[in-house]
Amino acid sequence: MQPSSLPRGLFITFEGGDGAGKSTQLRLLREALQEHGMGVVTTREPGGTEIGEKLRSLVLEHGHGQIDKRTEALIYAAARAAHVAQFITPHLSQGTHVVSDRFVDSSLAYQGVGRGLGIAAVAAINDFATGSLSPDLTILLDISAADGRARRIASTGGVEVSDRLEAEPDEFHENIRQAFLSLAHAAPERYLVLDANQPAEDLHARIMDRLQAVL
Ligand code: TYD
Repeated sequence: MQPSSLPRGLFITFEGGDGAGKSTQLRLLREALQEHGMGVVTTREPGGTEIGEKLRSLVLEHGHGQIDKRTEALIYAAARAAHVAQFITPHLSQGTHVVSDRFVDSSLAYQGVGRGLGIAAVAAINDFATGSLSPDLTILLDISAADGRARRIASTGGVEVSDRLEAEPDEFHENIRQAFLSLAHAAPERYLVLDANQPAEDLHARIMDRLQAVL
C-alpha cells in the first residue's frame, strides 16, 4: 500500500500599497477558515521568523544610514528564504493553509519597479531564495497612493508615522500600484484584484467567493 500523504495546504498572499487594509482582510480570512474547521496560520513579510524580524527592523527602521537598493532587495530575499524554509513550507506540508501579508510580488513591485532594479533581476534572486515557491492565490488590494497615505494617517490618530518605504513620495507609491496591477494582469489565474476602497465586509465576501473555487 502507498503511504498516505497529507494534502498540501494552500498558500495565499495579500499584496497592495501601504494602507490598503491587508491586515484586516488577513484576520477576517483566518477567522473564516478556522470557522470552517481548517488549520490556518497567518504571517507577514518581511518577518515570520526570528532572523526575518531582525532583517525587518534593519530594512524598515530609519537610522541604519543609507541602504543601497541591491542590498535592500537582498535583505528582503534573505528574510524570505528563512520564512519559506522555516515557516511556510513546513506548515504547507502539514496540510495547514498559510496566509501571508506580502511575498515575492512585493519585491518585484517595490525593488524591481520602485527602486528600478528590474523585474527579471529581482525575480531571479527570489527564485533562488524561495526555491520557486509560488502562491496558489494572491489577493491584490488596490489603492491609490493618496488614499493609502490618508488611511495610514487616520490609523495613527492623525499623525504621519512612516517607515523607510512609506516615507517615499506619492509618485513612488503610484509606480508600485501600477506594477502590482500589471503583475496581476499577467497572471489572472493566480490573482484576485479588489478595489480597497470598498467596505471590509464586501471585500471579505469577494475573497471567500474566489476561495471556494480554489478550495
Ligand atoms: P509593513 O509595515 O509590513 O507595511 P504594510 O502594512 O503596508 O505591509 O512594511 C512593509 C514595507 O516593506 C512596505 O512598505 C513594503 C515594503 N516591502 C518591500 O519593499 N519589499 C518586499 O519584498 C516586502 C515584503 C515589503
